[in-house]
Parts: sequence; C-alpha cells; structure tokens
Amino acid sequence: MRPYTCDPMSSPLSSTGASFGEIDSILQEALQELGLASSAASLEAWRTRFLGSNGKLKSLMGGLKSAPKDDKRELGQRLNDLKEKLESAFEVQRTSVNATSGTPLVDLTEPGITTGEGRRHILSRTVDEIIDVFGRMGFTVADGPEVEDEWHNFTALNIPQGHPARDASDNFYMGDSVGVKRLLRTQTSTVQIRAMESQQPPLKVVAVGRVYRPDTHDATHFSMFHQIEGLCVDRNLSLVDLKTALLQFAHAYFGADAEVRMRPSFFPFTEPSAEVDMKMHIKGQLQWVEIGGCGMVDPNVLEAVGLDPEQWSGYAFGLGVERIAMRRYGITDIRWLFENDARFLRQF
Ligand code: DAH
Repeated sequence: MRPYTCDPMSSPLSSTGASFGEIDSILQEALQELGLASSAASLEAWRTRFLGSNGKLKSLMGGLKSAPKDDKRELGQRLNDLKEKLESAFEVQRTSVNATSGTPLVDLTEPGITTGEGRRHILSRTVDEIIDVFGRMGFTVADGPEVEDEWHNFTALNIPQGHPARDASDNFYMGDSVGVKRLLRTQTSTVQIRAMESQQPPLKVVAVGRVYRPDTHDATHFSMFHQIEGLCVDRNLSLVDLKTALLQFAHAYFGADAEVRMRPSFFPFTEPSAEVDMKMHIKGQLQWVEIGGCGMVDPNVLEAVGLDPEQWSGYAFGLGVERIAMRRYGITDIRWLFENDARFLRQF
C-alpha cells in the first residue's frame, strides 16, 4: 500500500485526476474571480465556469475515479467541501450584487409559483349557460323552496292523494309543520305552481334547482340532482310552441345541427305529455340523448291556481341538468359531480 502523505499539497496524484493541490488552487481562483463579478451576466458566467455541468468542479469530480484508491475518500470529502464553499460564496456575492445593482437577479426561465386558481363547478356553469339561453328566448327566472308542501309538490300538479308518486319510499318526508306535511321537493315542477300563484299570465319562466329522491347511489342515480323547469302560459299555445322553444334552446345550446324529438309519455300535470330527446354532438358524433319531459299544461293544473283553461293554455318542460352536463362533457358517473374531488373538477 502506498504510504499516506500528510501534506495534501504534495501528495502524489494522477495527472488527470483530482488532487488536493488542484482543489485548493481552484478554490482560490474561483473566490478571486467571484470577487470581481459585479453584474448578473458576470455572475452567471462564473457560475457556469465553476459550478456548471461542464464546469471545473464537475471535471474535478470526474477525475476522482482515476485518483489513487487510498486518497479517494478524503478527496471526495474535500470536493464536497469545495462545492459547498463555492455555492455559499456565490450566494453571498449574488445577494450583494443584487442589493447594490438594485436589479433583482431573477431567473426568468424558472417555472412560476401557481396560485391554485379556483373555478366554478361544472354544474353551476351548465346551469348558468342554460339559463342564459332561455333568458335570450324571453324567459324570466322563477324560484321556489327546496322544502315543499304537498300542495305544490303533488296536489296542484294533479297528483291526487293515494297516487303512487306520493309513496313514502319515493319521497323524503320531513314531518308536519302546522298541520302541513312537508317534504324535499322531488321535482322543480313545484315552481310552475308558485309562478302561476304569484304572477298573472301571460308568463314565461324558467326555474332551476335541486330536487331530492331516495334513490340508491350508482353511476346514474343520486339522491339529489338538478332540474331546469320551463313554463309558458298564454292564450292559444300549442305543441308547436313547445317544440319550437325546445328546438330553439337545442340550437343555441348544442349547436345548429342539434335536433329535438318528442316521444309520447305520461305526466300527471301535462296533457299530452312527452319525453324530450335532443340530438347532440358526443365525442364527435351526433347522438340522441334523453334529457327530460314536457307537455301541454293539464287543465286541472290551471284550475288549481285559479286560471280558466278555456282562456289560458300552457306548455311546460323539465330537463335534467346532470344528464346534460354528463353527456356533454363525457362524465360517466354522476357521483363524481358531488364528491368535490378537485382533481376531477379541475378538468372542466
Ligand atoms: N317533473 C318531471 C320529472 O321530474 C319532469 C317534467 C315532465 C317536467 C313534464 C315538466 C313536464 O314540466 O311538462 O320527472
């Protein structure tokens, strides 16, 4: 084994590898030059020369491989020490140049700090967009409570006592309040009644809000969701007016090539009644999507709010907001809309 030399300056070293002497002379040279660096550019040039990926420190470190085995450990420590000294001297000089030049030495290529910008929930945005379209079509916005009485949720909508829709297993009943049975509304059609009670026809309103049903949660069911309700009451309205309104909406919201299809159905508060499908672009293809129900307001409903069905007629529709948003944005599980996982919501 080669005897260890205690004077590092004079240790015998390979000509290409790192040596103690070399380390010291580079430290001296570097500190001297650093003292002269008085601008951002000269600091950067210094950094590249000594600390850069092709700089002197790197090449010394590269030389460690070919240094004598017995020196390796200490050389390694000395190189680390050199690195720390150079880095801290650089920071000191940079701060002082910075302070005296008044120009902050900002690295413009550094990625910035993002502020985690918030955004509106995809459902809120969908609701706003839909309301905006109906607003341009002359509909005003009506409102009603989520905790309803039986009169607005059922009776006035032509859903009599004993009707299966009133079943306890299909509703969230909340107990009586001053003798009135209350429940979480199961449909925004309640707002039709409230609008007709508070405004005289002709009227043209849309209402949007939450509705509640005791459904088991799965990819397409949730115990709370949103509906958009539309109601128009005027003289001599017909199915043509209803279909025209839906078609206008479809064109404005889904695009000029959207279509509307009505399939005969039954709702207690409309006669005739239909399911509404809209043809919209889904993943680049036009597809039919069922989005709600509609019909001509049943004469019993007009009578319930004191309007003469001989004089007044109405059309109504109720559309599912989640359904529209899910199909439009390719969301395949309704639960994601309510879990509030920012990673999901951030995509929209
Ligand atoms: N309220 C119905 C439901 O929740 C949807 C509906 C159907 C609303 C027909 C309407 C309508 O206004 O005319 O299933």
